[in-house]
Amino acid sequence: MSLLLAFDDERALAERLAQAAGLPLAFVARHRFPDGETRLRLPPALPAHTVLLRGLQQPNEKLTELMLAAAGARELGAQRLTLVSPYLAYMRQDMAFAPGEVVSQRHVGRALAAWFDAVITVDPHLHRVATMDEVVPGRCGIALSAAPLLGAWIAEHAPGALLLGPDEEALQWVRAAAQAHGMAYAVCSKLRHADRKVEVTLPEGLELRGRAVVLLDDVASTGRTLVEAAHGAHARGAASVDVAVTHALFVGDALAELHAAGVRRVWSTDSVPHESNVVSIAGMVAGALASPGSPRA
Ligand code: R5P
Repeated sequence: MSLLLAFDDERALAERLAQAAGLPLAFVARHRFPDGETRLRLPPALPAHTVLLRGLQQPNEKLTELMLAAAGARELGAQRLTLVSPYLAYMRQDMAFAPGEVVSQRHVGRALAAWFDAVITVDPHLHRVATMDEVVPGRCGIALSAAPLLGAWIAEHAPGALLLGPDEEALQWVRAAAQAHGMAYAVCSKLRHADRKVEVTLPEGLELRGRAVVLLDDVASTGRTLVEAAHGAHARGAASVDVAVTHALFVGDALAELHAAGVRRVWSTDSVPHESNVVSIAGMVAGALASPGSPRA
């Protein structure tokens, strides 16, 4: 028998995943002391295989929680620990862009590999590293993609739309979403000057006059990448611009800025709890937990 352990602030996805995977669900109780320390309380006896659901949006505090939860779970009986982290933070810092810069991806990955036997995630931002095996060396790492699920949603709610990736790295997601549903697609090129300053250039000759455009990306953080892509699509005469992302971080004024840039609708998966969630990853994650050779088998 396995158990799904989750945190209260991810209750909706936890309940969907427990139901889809046929797992009993229990919650980790958290207390934050006035000095910022965290106390966790887990069920006092855990089954040999325990699955922990914890997305790493706002990652720094959650990494501490993961370290404590994993160590505590092993003391309470879990022999095999699977982490389901729909949004895996720190994946974009995958090289030293300046001398002395710490390659966070490598070290966060190694920490997860030390704490967990298996890690399942969705659309991790793997650029210079090709597989999850490289992120969590020696462990079972599974990267799922929500692109086909978002593609199905877009095909139904914006029929005939062109899918536009705001940068070259989005090609993998845009292509997967578009090909599964027979949609046209293209990707832009992007230059990032600062956290909130990006330049997005649409492909030369891409004709958008009168077309519905859906911008598709793995993650929206400040939203500036999508804002610039939206401006570009409107400048080419797009009839409408909608946005679909796997991970809806949308920090600060991101949503307001998107709407100010003329974005009509914003859609996301429930990998990160957000008002834009319309597509659930629960069934897909449950499938990964149940498939032969999976961390649960
Ligand atoms: C990076 O290339 C990602 O795919 C996203 O495009 C990026 O992280 C979005 O960041 P922001 O919303 O802050 O522009």
